[in-house]
Amino acid sequence: MDLAETLFFKSELMKFQRRSLIKLFGLSVLSPLAASSCSLNRSKDLSVSGPQVLTTWNHGVANKIALDSMNEGMTLSDSLVKAISHVENDPKDQSVGYGGRPDEDGTVTLDACIMDENGECGSVTYIQDIKNPIEAARLVKDYSPHVILSGAGAQKFALAHGMQLTDLLSPESRMQYQEWKRKGAKYKTEANIENHDTIGMLCRNKEGNIAGGCSTSGMAFKSAGRVGDSPIIGAGLYVDNRIGASTATGLGEIVLKNLSTFLVVELMRNGKSPQDACVEAIQRIIASYKIKKDQVGLIAINKVGEIGAASILPGFFYSYTDQKEIVVNEAVSYYD
Ligand code: GLY
Repeated sequence: MDLAETLFFKSELMKFQRRSLIKLFGLSVLSPLAASSCSLNRSKDLSVSGPQVLTTWNHGVANKIALDSMNEGMTLSDSLVKAISHVENDPKDQSVGYGGRPDEDGTVTLDACIMDENGECGSVTYIQDIKNPIEAARLVKDYSPHVILSGAGAQKFALAHGMQLTDLLSPESRMQYQEWKRKGAKYKTEANIENHDTIGMLCRNKEGNIAGGCSTSGMAFKSAGRVGDSPIIGAGLYVDNRIGASTATGLGEIVLKNLSTFLVVELMRNGKSPQDACVEAIQRIIASYKIKKDQVGLIAINKVGEIGAASILPGFFYSYTDQKEIVVNEAVSYYD
């Protein structure tokens, strides 16, 4: 069994175990209050030593790439770009990078951002024909006086810094787009692993410094011009190296209205654990919008390496990797 198969197997096993527990004990596991006591903390009294990687969805292979990179002494930004680029290059991942599902006009448009341990950030939105938007975002962070570059300007900047043009529409995504048109081209906001798996990655190195990155092709068949939460600092990703970091997946419009990752970091600043902060940010969304069918998933890590994850609906998985383990777990969710 290779690593990807092992991760898939583990995630399926955990899903089964979780469902079995619910059956056995009749637990409403996903009650937000139960979630608070069901801590995901890795360490109560001591900082976790050695690098850690926490990622939305089943991205254990990318986690391993980031972990190995940090172990080899690469910077947090280099490790993030290497690991997220791996996912962007994979045509089987149809919500990120090459092979991402296109917008209503059949054009693949990508969003990404990165925020480092020094609070420096870079972002590209609505970028086209650039296979690795996370690398373009990193170039913006390091070589531009700006934080966000968009559309044609973002592409021009990426090309000026040595990136290449690539047709991002894979045969599979083209086929799905044609099928969507054939069926009447109705836009759906369903955001779960089957059709939406933005990669948001948080890395903590052995010195305890934290950085994060986020990359997506956004909602399948979205309106032309739409930009989601993923490239917006404070929405799709937020890092404060003194406190911790958080990243989001799911329906970007909801995350944008709540600045959920900024909120998670602020809640941690006020003393919440990453787990309790994620749960409270999800509760805040529910209280504001009474959302019942749309998905948002949040993950977080704090300065000492404790982690947290929560979502609105079941089915949001996150991947955690450190020197000892690679796990894929389902987050606690508000509705079961
Ligand atoms: N969360 C990614 C998006 O909505 O585009």
